[in-house]
Amino acid sequence: MPHTGNPEADANATRADQSTRTETVPPARWPDACAQSSRAHHGRLVRVQALAQHNDGAVIRLRIDDRDGVSGRMRFGSLLPPRTLDGLTAGETCERPEPEIAKPQPKQHKSQRRPTMTQKHQLPELPYAEDALQPHISAETLALHHGKHHATYVDKLNGLIEGTRFADARLSEVVAEADGGTFNNAAQAWNHAFYWHCLSPQGGGDPEGELATRIGRDFGSTEALREQFSEALTRLFGSGWVWLALNPAGNLVIESRGNAGNPLRDGMVPILTCDMWEHAYYVDYRNRKKEYVDAFWKLVNWDFAAQNLSRGQPFEV
Ligand SMILES: [Fe+2]
Repeated sequence: MPHTGNPEADANATRADQSTRTETVPPARWPDACAQSSRAHHGRLVRVQALAQHNDGAVIRLRIDDRDGVSGRMRFGSLLPPRTLDGLTAGETCERPEPEIAKPQPKQHKSQRRPTMTQKHQLPELPYAEDALQPHISAETLALHHGKHHATYVDKLNGLIEGTRFADARLSEVVAEADGGTFNNAAQAWNHAFYWHCLSPQGGGDPEGELATRIGRDFGSTEALREQFSEALTRLFGSGWVWLALNPAGNLVIESRGNAGNPLRDGMVPILTCDMWEHAYYVDYRNRKKEYVDAFWKLVNWDFAAQNLSRGQPFEV
């Protein structure tokens, strides 16, 4: 603390320094000093009480007010170059009545973090909130299914393709051409990204337009498709997927596939799918598969199916 030459003033300043906190504020942050102080004091008003300039720098005192008046004093940044005080004068109010409290950021799964050389593929966001499909599919199921199972497939895939010919391939290309663990994880990554869109909080009902026409042509009716698709789901042994797909002949067909199976491998275009791995329904329905299948039809996103049919090319994640 520079001396003023007045012994009494110096003694008072020393006592004040001992009773308040002293912080060094980098010059570049000086204009924000008041705001920072306010945040540190739970949004109470911060006023510049006094400025003192000395031969070798400047001292600023900030007064911290609350509704009841002065509640404390703080001294900031002694010996700062005078130029850092530009725009800040004694008596000026620098306040933030509403404290800016940093909101905790949701913990990101590592698949959602910034891509690196080894993280080509990212976990896609759900197209709706985790609780949007309730009461048919719970938020707990979606949190686990998307945040754990789907995320794990993406993570494992990124590790498996590093340094291989699939390192820069599109996900659908990996699904179509890879084998073994790379195929399993790529297909599960693709299948789940596709499956989320097959469900919608506004889903259910019957298809319309060209999709309805094609279903009528190839299955007789939407109800017939629903019955056959549901039967395929409940009969599927073990874990797997049931697909509505467009085959190379241009017909809509129902395809059951075990494990990570996807009709992409057979040159078909996936139109709609339902996940029959236990993790898709066990939290909500235990072993009551039929109830899960009934829930699927209440959420089914015919608009998404119609888009896939209209595109005639596999969905790209
Ligand atoms: Fe799944």
